Amino acid sequence: MAADRLIVNTDSRESVSLNGTWHYILDPYETGFYNYRYKERSEGDPEAYWNRPVTKHRSERREHGYRAPYTLEVPGDWNSQDDTFTYYEGTVWYQRDFDRPQLGKNQRVFLYFGAVNYEAHVYLNGKKLGMHKGGFTPFNFEVPRDLLKEKDNFLVVKVDNKRHPDEIPTINTDWWNYGGITRDIKLVMTPDNFIQQYEIELDPAQDILTAKQENRFRISGNVTLDKAASSGAVTLAIPELGVEQRYPVTGSRLEFDLELEDLQLWSPKTPKLYNVSLTYNSEELADNIGFRKIETSGKKILLNGEPVFLRGIAIHEEIPQGVRRAHSEADAEQLLGWAKDLNANMVRLAHYPHNEQMTRLADKMGLLVWSEIPVYWTIDFGNDAVLDKAKAQLKEMIARDHNRASIVIWSVGNETPVSPVRTGFMKSLIDTARSLDDSRLISAALEVHYNPETNRVDDPLGAYTDIVSVNEYLGWYGGTPDMCRTANWEVAYDKPLFISETGAGAKSGFHADRETRWSEEYQQWYYEEQIKMLKRMPDNYSGVAPWILADFRSPKRNHPLYQQGWNRKGLIDEQGHKKKAFDVLKAYYGEIEKDADQ
Ligand code: GCU
Repeated sequence: MAADRLIVNTDSRESVSLNGTWHYILDPYETGFYNYRYKERSEGDPEAYWNRPVTKHRSERREHGYRAPYTLEVPGDWNSQDDTFTYYEGTVWYQRDFDRPQLGKNQRVFLYFGAVNYEAHVYLNGKKLGMHKGGFTPFNFEVPRDLLKEKDNFLVVKVDNKRHPDEIPTINTDWWNYGGITRDIKLVMTPDNFIQQYEIELDPAQDILTAKQENRFRISGNVTLDKAASSGAVTLAIPELGVEQRYPVTGSRLEFDLELEDLQLWSPKTPKLYNVSLTYNSEELADNIGFRKIETSGKKILLNGEPVFLRGIAIHEEIPQGVRRAHSEADAEQLLGWAKDLNANMVRLAHYPHNEQMTRLADKMGLLVWSEIPVYWTIDFGNDAVLDKAKAQLKEMIARDHNRASIVIWSVGNETPVSPVRTGFMKSLIDTARSLDDSRLISAALEVHYNPETNRVDDPLGAYTDIVSVNEYLGWYGGTPDMCRTANWEVAYDKPLFISETGAGAKSGFHADRETRWSEEYQQWYYEEQIKMLKRMPDNYSGVAPWILADFRSPKRNHPLYQQGWNRKGLIDEQGHKKKAFDVLKAYYGEIEKDADQ
């Protein structure tokens, strides 16, 4: 059973958190799932790990159980919680009991996961609720009321983070494959019929400059109910703008638009959010929404009708000091706070959708966001089932964050090798993204082939994206930083150019002359030469997001002195200390901001 349609904005709904200390069974051979003939166990099989082991008589044989000290914290990856798990890839069974919450007569109950890496099979009281794949997007299953007991409901989640060639991401990534129930889990209670998803935004079709001149702004939106209704109404309220609008519902989808005056537009400088609420069937959903327009015009990226330069930085969803996945608001404050210290106005959340705390905080802090699905490197492009998996993650990513003003770019992938099959696959993703959301820019991080004279950006996929984004490492993977002095760039498309990655490694605290790799001085030199080159880029150069904010764990980085399982391209080390190059980039961004203000 696949997951139900996603319920958005669960923070604003009646819910009970199931976070906390869970029991676990480490099961590399999946003994709890398959019998010794490696056949899937039947539902009632007492040896299945989704069934509570009950011993009625002392002679009975039971070979599994859930008890201390075998516990893990949720949310959280398992790798950072116990040395046993540092490198573990496989199945872990999570279990906890919970009591039935107080429920109204027609109330429904859903089990909601912020994310589980990678494959989750969910069971309650021995019954399977469903299965979900994808390590970085939310999902939910309805809990049949008659399955719920008043006390000690036996909840089990089989989590498997093994990598496979036909999954998304595939087997090869330059990040740590943290496993577990990595984000919040909760019971969400709803009325019998309820608002499942909604979209509220500045109507992307309107000319924003005219709207500003005439002080008349059109807001458009839609509401999707869980099921068709023949009566009742949805009320939209934006108190600060004097909006209280009642819309009768017939069917399961409602569309609306309204004209407003004196709307303050959202931007990094003025990250204005409005309290917006939608009420239906006694459930009131409250949200904080910013209104802004993002578009391209020829070679420029326009925010609210004005050219904007993306002063970006790439971020992995990791807290280096804890060697763990980030998941909380405090984690987001640390990472986005560092980006602000850098004078960035944009963050590339790589290479997968980060937790909702990050995107909601980016709304508040005024950081533009690039959000991406992990179609990373060499995916099985010729496999339709793989395309469906990528599309499922794209849908979940866009559904969860459609109302986040900060998100301006959806990326459908990173450094995928050029071939007709690949380009077809990626174009199909781009088309899907556009059909789901025509209000944002669609892109993908392309590769460039270095050339001593002119580096040419002509990946065929660039024909379908709104901005041409390219990763370049001239001076790290190609030669030394002085090569930037003679490098020229050519882009085959009259579209904005965005450098979605550039960076060099440095072991924090290792100091030497600038030509010594891994020294902070080499990284500093790299940024100095890159910035000089970036200042000579073609006139469609519209932004950059260097790789990367902080050192991060990678099983591919094994230099015994300088890496020790860390990708060292961070501008901040794993203790949180800034490296020399941090200030080089910060100064560059300061210059750009000053020029923009003039
Ligand atoms: C690649 C890739 C990143 C990787 C980086 C690096 O471009 O997109 O995921 O970490 O380069 O090599 O450090």
